[in-house]
Amino acid sequence: MFPAVERYGLIWTCLSPQGAWPQLPPMPSWGDPLYQSILPPFVDIAGSAGRQVEGFVDVAHFAFVHHEAFADRNGPEVPAYQTEFTDFGLRTEYWSNVSNYPKALQHLAPDDFSWLRVYEIYPPFCAGLTVHFPNEGRLNILNAASPVSARKTRLFVPITRNFDTSGPLDDVYAFNAQIFAEDQAIVERQRPEDLPLDMQIEAHFAVDRTSAGYRRLLREMGLTMAYAG
Ligand SMILES: [Fe+2]
Repeated sequence: MFPAVERYGLIWTCLSPQGAWPQLPPMPSWGDPLYQSILPPFVDIAGSAGRQVEGFVDVAHFAFVHHEAFADRNGPEVPAYQTEFTDFGLRTEYWSNVSNYPKALQHLAPDDFSWLRVYEIYPPFCAGLTVHFPNEGRLNILNAASPVSARKTRLFVPITRNFDTSGPLDDVYAFNAQIFAEDQAIVERQRPEDLPLDMQIEAHFAVDRTSAGYRRLLREMGLTMAYAG
């Protein structure tokens, strides 16, 4: 028997419960009447959970991977951003001009709008993203990567938003599916399949601050390369 708790439309458990119940990633907007709470269908990925989470928190791939969904192929520059380690893991604030509207709705953002994306990593395999939209709009995405095996992952993505709260869910599902399919194609092709936790193995750049921090968190948990997969 394993302990279980229901949160954000999902059943969470812990395979090696010891002492206190592990802290679940917070999503206070879930169930808040000001927000629409959405649980799209899960996604099965033939890749490791570590690779998937690292892809989710990467800010440099929008122009290369998501240029059909929301980003601009001609805007690959990543402005400098800050990352800090926290008591739960890691927090990144990323300001840029990369709109989060689907292509068909990009006229809704003022030309000079600065987009803030706040990432919070809950190691080993969860990460939250809050996107700050115009007019105080907020989109919260919880990326919960559940390892099925070392190199298979079932991805759950509870979402809340305080705008278009009566909008059709099919549009949200479709946009979400498009983005995660674009990510999946990359995650499944990355080699090595397990996330290298030795920082000497790959070259890292300033834009990799978040993923470098994520790898450090996994290393500090005592994971090795094989277990990060
Ligand atoms: Fe992505």
